[in-house]
Amino acid sequence: MGVMLRIAHLSDLHVLSPFGFEWRQAFFNKRLTGYANLIRQRGRVYRRDYLAAVLSGAAAHADHLVVTGDITNLSLEREFEEARALLDGAARNVEVTVVPGNHDTYLPSIHEERRFPHHFGSFLRSDLPELARDLHSGPFPCVKLRGPAAIIALSSAVPRPPFVASGRVGRVQLAALEEALAHPEVARRTPVVLIHHPPVDGRIRLAQLRDGLVDAELLRAVLSRLARGLVLFGHVHVRVRRRIPTAAGALEVIAARSAPSAAPTWT
Ligand SMILES: [Fe+2]
Repeated sequence: MGVMLRIAHLSDLHVLSPFGFEWRQAFFNKRLTGYANLIRQRGRVYRRDYLAAVLSGAAAHADHLVVTGDITNLSLEREFEEARALLDGAARNVEVTVVPGNHDTYLPSIHEERRFPHHFGSFLRSDLPELARDLHSGPFPCVKLRGPAAIIALSSAVPRPPFVASGRVGRVQLAALEEALAHPEVARRTPVVLIHHPPVDGRIRLAQLRDGLVDAELLRAVLSRLARGLVLFGHVHVRVRRRIPTAAGALEVIAARSAPSAAPTWT
């Protein structure tokens, strides 16, 4: 077993289509609200050259690149294609693992079309596939045993009505996570859990229901049995670092800043 694994953590890429906005697909649906947000922040939101540089820097200095969701902006097919081209470029030099965010399942129909697993399935090959549940956003949890670490990718992406950006792990996936953590190959390694929505949230319940992880408490209860571990998340677009004490030790909980910008937006 290797003694070290260098993980580069990126999040909230919000990749846009290189062909511009597709009006036909946007009319009278939720994407109009998304596009209004985009116009408001144009130029601060997504710069392909900057993101490509960040990805190649990560690929050059890390053993594993993890991206914690909101990889696309409006779940458009061309955004997925563009994002996959960028991530495939990085994947030539480093292993890549991704989890979906609320922007990657922007509409229930996208969820049904399973665009996320279709485009990013090559970044979600589990070493313990028997533990995965067949969720619309893909097979999760996805477990990768890499040297001293067990990387555990979770999906918190569920379709939501306009202006609601919250996420949920769900009881089915939580039960699978418990099984994964108890697996001997995981238990002897340091778990590195990937999730888009924040597992820690000091805000009032109403705010959590609007754009947080609605079952964060249940997730923390499962993780509280760990003596050590790392939880990497995104969604908040700012860097967060917290240490959460558990019964037998502590967890490091870290959010990455939005990779292509510092725009402080949650939805
Ligand atoms: Fe998000």
